[in-house]
This record gives sequence, structure tokens and C-alpha cells, in this order.
Amino acid sequence: MNMIGIARRNWALRLSVVLNVCVLLYVCAHFGSSGPWIEEPPTNWGTPLSEAFGAPENFNGTQRQSSSSSSSSGYSASPLFSNLKLVKQSVKESLENKPATVLNSTSINSATRIEEGPFSTQKVQDHSQTRSNGTDGASSPAMTLKDAIPCNDKSSEPKTAQRGDYWVLYNYVPMSMSVRCWETVTYTTQADYTFLDNVEPLLERWRAPISIAMHAPGSDFPSTIEAIKYLRSCGSPLISQLVTFHIYFSSKHVPKAVPSTEKIISDTYNCSLGPPWVNVSVAKMYKTEKKLLYPVNVGRNIARESAPTYYVFASDIELYPSPNLAPKFLEMIRKRDQLTLYKSNPKVFVLSIFEVDEKSQPPVNKTQLIQMLKAGTAIPFHKKLCSGCHNVPRSKEWQEAVETEGLHVFHVGKRTGSFVHWEPIFIGTNNDPLYDERLSWEGKSDKMTQGYALCVLDYDFLILDNAFLVHRPGIKIFKKDSYRDMLTSKTNALIKKIIFPELKVLYGTRKGCAV
Ligand SMILES: *[C@@H]1O[C@H](CO)[C@@H](O)[C@H](O)[C@H]1NC(C)=O
Ligand SMILES: *[C@@H]1O[C@H](CO)[C@@H](O)[C@H](O)[C@H]1NC(C)=O
Ligand SMILES: *[C@@H]1O[C@H](CO)[C@@H](O)[C@H](O)[C@H]1NC(C)=O
Ligand SMILES: *[C@@H]1O[C@H](CO)[C@@H](O)[C@H](O)[C@H]1NC(C)=O
Ligand SMILES: *[C@@H]1O[C@H](CO)[C@@H](O)[C@H](O)[C@H]1NC(C)=O
Ligand SMILES: *[C@@H]1O[C@H](CO)[C@@H](O)[C@H](O)[C@H]1NC(C)=O
Repeated sequence: MNMIGIARRNWALRLSVVLNVCVLLYVCAHFGSSGPWIEEPPTNWGTPLSEAFGAPENFNGTQRQSSSSSSSSGYSASPLFSNLKLVKQSVKESLENKPATVLNSTSINSATRIEEGPFSTQKVQDHSQTRSNGTDGASSPAMTLKDAIPCNDKSSEPKTAQRGDYWVLYNYVPMSMSVRCWETVTYTTQADYTFLDNVEPLLERWRAPISIAMHAPGSDFPSTIEAIKYLRSCGSPLISQLVTFHIYFSSKHVPKAVPSTEKIISDTYNCSLGPPWVNVSVAKMYKTEKKLLYPVNVGRNIARESAPTYYVFASDIELYPSPNLAPKFLEMIRKRDQLTLYKSNPKVFVLSIFEVDEKSQPPVNKTQLIQMLKAGTAIPFHKKLCSGCHNVPRSKEWQEAVETEGLHVFHVGKRTGSFVHWEPIFIGTNNDPLYDERLSWEGKSDKMTQGYALCVLDYDFLILDNAFLVHRPGIKIFKKDSYRDMLTSKTNALIKKIIFPELKVLYGTRKGCAV
């Protein structure tokens, strides 16, 4: 009798586990469609991950405990900073209290609700009380961020590896903060050390993890190390907390010495010497002297693949996002209160891009941006260079729509018709197609092949309403560059003769899609 009773109870328990899993799968399947998207400036790709969302056993948390908080030596001041302290503390607490975070299906329902991370803005929700108004007719429970973003945490241990013709020092100088894959968004980008003056203004607005791949061949390597040390020792404490530097160089241009991660983290920089990128003559850089091309897409892919979060925002380092983008974006994902977020095609979240003149500060919100557009101190990005490359569908309507609370999908666009050569910049995931590493910055069109793949895979381009990107102040004008023109025509031939035929084999074709 007893045995039977126990068996029954076990059976009932198992059934309830199965039911829980089903509910979870259902919810994931709906959300899952909002899967993949990506980052870099105009590149994108993605593949829907809905399938991968399934099993709750996938919730695995591996914490990176390594270099936890080497910085933060008593800086005081702004409310932003004090927020960050809280953030750090809560990361630490969650590390201490929950060492392994391996959730099995029985524990998942209760555990997910407790696991609020440092970046999460939402309140803990009681599933039974808060029911969102199922736009799709089903009543889906309001979710926590962790429920909404099924993902696995990633190791951020330093690792040296080859990648095609390049050596890569992944996570060479890692950020000190640990983050869970669901709790924030990573801005991913690439640069050489002369662009590192963008890090502080960028981080000031982004305030979430940044993953940067630095191209540092030969004697550009020691200068790059000095620049990283300068930022970490003399800049905002946010830099050592939130910025991870990866380094890469061709195997034909290996530097003379590569110090250990520990040495770089513990070294200090004499701040009165000023930043090492000031007064650098580009003509004297190793890269220029050796006539190397800038392998922009190798860097983009390294930075994106190494991001610790599920959502990645691949951008160019000179593009500064509107403040609070990451938490507003995640709140939109968590709430899923727009029908378009349930659609099953793969999707990326596109930002409109603007330039402001040299004398202006980037606007802090859309209201201010609209005023600047009216006053002529801001213009759509590359209006004077290549307006077709960055023109966003419904941009006129976007500029007329007044700012609202939070973040929403303003319009769903496709990369077809007059947008067939669009190079959108978007928030996506690492399921989106990567960038072709044979293309260089000098040869241009470096995001076009990704754009083609996205188009063939039938991606939706969800244009966000209240968020935007602003190029660092100064409006670009057209300058003739015959060296670049020569490289551009070479690149175009490479794309046409070699890459495009490959893409047609690998991704197929679709009416209206072009490179
Ligand atoms: C979670 O990840 C760790 C480290 O990668 C691994 O050892 C462990 O088996 C994983 N657990 C599950 C349930 O996948
Ligand atoms: C799942 O978690 C529960 C509660 O945390 C535990 O009792 C059970 O042994 C775990 N099952 C497995 C298979 O790990
Ligand atoms: C639920 O949605 C319907 C239609 O979308 C709307 O009319 C109604 O007001 C909503 N109810 C609540 C409680 O939000
Ligand atoms: C830092 O650099 C300044 C200016 O070159 C120099 O005067 C000072 O002695 C240096 N400090 C240290 C500790 O090396
Ligand atoms: C940069 O070069 C200019 C002109 O040569 C000079 O006036 C300035 O002091 C230099 N700045 C630094 C930080 O070396
Ligand atoms: C936008 O920023 C301006 C300037 O800081 C501020 O005065 C205004 O209240 C902000 N508007 C909104 C809607 O946040």
C-alpha cells in the first residue's frame, strides 16, 4: 500500500514536472521567436534560436569568479556610480549565495524568480498574480527576465587561440564584473588603439558590458597595452568593471612580447603622461608602415562571440547609444506586449543613427534629438556620404513621432526594395550570421554579405521607437581617396565572384534580396 502510495505520489510529481516543462516550452516557443539579432554597425545576421530555447536543463550558470573587482578604489560621486556599487554588491551576493546555479526542472519555477541579477530592472513577479493580457489570445504569465531569456553563461577566462591567419588573445584584459547571460546586453565592437578615446563617452551612456577586439600587430601591440592601462588606471572606474579587451594580430605580425593578463591588470599607468593615443601619427603606426589592411570583420566576430550575454549589440565604437538602452530593451523583451515580438521569423532590433555637429553634445533623449534635427544641429547618419546605406524604413515617421515611455517596436522593416543595400545596426544574438572575415574596412561593403544572409533567412528588422545611436560629434563629409577606391573595387569583385556565389549555396536565394 505504502509503496503504491509513494509510487502514485512520485507519478503525480513527475506529471507536474512534465506540465511545468510544457508550460515553459510553450512560453519559450513564443518568446523564442524574438531570438537572434546582432550588433555591429551595419552588419547583421541571425538565425532564429527558437529551437534552442526548449529544455529547462539548459539553464546552466557558470560563474566567473576570477578577477572579481580589482578596481573601485573609493570613487565617489554621481548617482550613476552609486548604482553601480549596488550592482557590484548584488553580483557578489549572488555569487556567494548561489555557487553553482544548476537548475533542474523541479527547481526552475521557484528558482528563477529569486535570481534577480544586478542589471535587472524588474520587480520580482508572482506568476500566479500577474497575468499579462495575452495579445495572442493565450494568457501567458508575466515573466522574469531570466524566464524570458533562456541562455547559458559563458566563460570569460583568458584564452589564446588561432583564428584563420590570426592569433587571438580572447578575454586578454577581462572586465571585473560577473554578469549572467540574461541580465544585460553587451555592446561589441573593434578598434585600434587610436580609437580608444571613445570608450569613456561610450560607457558613460551605455553603462553595461562592452566587448572590444583590438587589432594590434607588431609594435602597435605595446602601444595598445599602454592605452588599455591608461584607460583602466586614469579613466572612469566603470572601465575596469565593464570593458573586456581582446587582442588580435596576423600570425605574420606577432609582437615581440605578450605580457600576462595578471601583469596588465596589476600594472598602473603614470596618468600625468596623458593618453598614449594623443598625437599619434597614423603614418608611423606599424599597421600603416607595413601596409596592412584593417581586418574589421575578424574583430567584429571576436568581440561578438566573446560577449558574456545572450543579447549583443554589434556597433562601431564611434556610435554612442541613447542612455538606458540596455535596461529599456530588456524590459521590452520581458514584457513582450507587442504582437510582433511573438512572430516566428528571426528578428533583430534596429536603431536609427544620427550625426551631430562638432559643437554639439549628443542628445540625451529622443525629444532633444528631434529639437536638434529641427534646428539642423543633427542629421541622419551618412546623409552626406551614403544615405542609402543607413536610411531606415519609415525614418520620416520615426522623426515625427514624439517620445513615449519605455521602448517599443516602431515598425517592422525588411531589407528589400529601396532598402536592399541597407547596413542596419541592431541588437541581436550570436545566432545571427557572422561577418565575412575576408572583407576589410578599407574595401567597404563589409556588412553587406551579412545583410544578404539576413534577408534570405527572412529576418524581421524591428525598428525601435525611443532609442537611437549618435556618431561622435562632427559631421562627415566626402573625401576622395584613390587608394581606398582601388581597394573598394577589388572588394566588390571578391564579393561578386567568390562570396556571393558561396552565400547562394549556403543560404539559398529569396526574391528581393541582394548583396
Ligand atoms: C553546467 O556547466 C558546467 C560547466 O560548464 C558543467 O560542468 C555542468 O555539467 C553543467 N551542468 C548542466 C546541468 O548542464
Ligand atoms: C532537482 O532539484 C531538487 C530540489 O533542488 C532536488 O531535490 C533534486 O534532487 C534535483 N534533481 C536532480 C535530478 O538533480
Ligand atoms: C486586454 O487586451 C484587450 C485587447 O487587446 C484590451 O481591450 C483590454 O483592455 C486588455 N485588458 C487589460 C486588463 O489590459
Ligand atoms: C609621471 O610623469 C611625470 C611627467 O612626465 C613625471 O614628472 C613623474 O615623475 C612621473 N611619475 C612617476 C611616478 O613616474
Ligand atoms: C601634441 O602635439 C601638439 C603640436 O605638435 C603639441 O602642441 C601638444 O602639446 C601635443 N600634445 C601632447 C599631449 O603631447
Ligand atoms: C529629455 O532631455 C531634456 C534635456 O535634458 C530634458 O529636459 C527632458 O525632460 C527630457 N525629456 C524626456 C521625455 O525625458
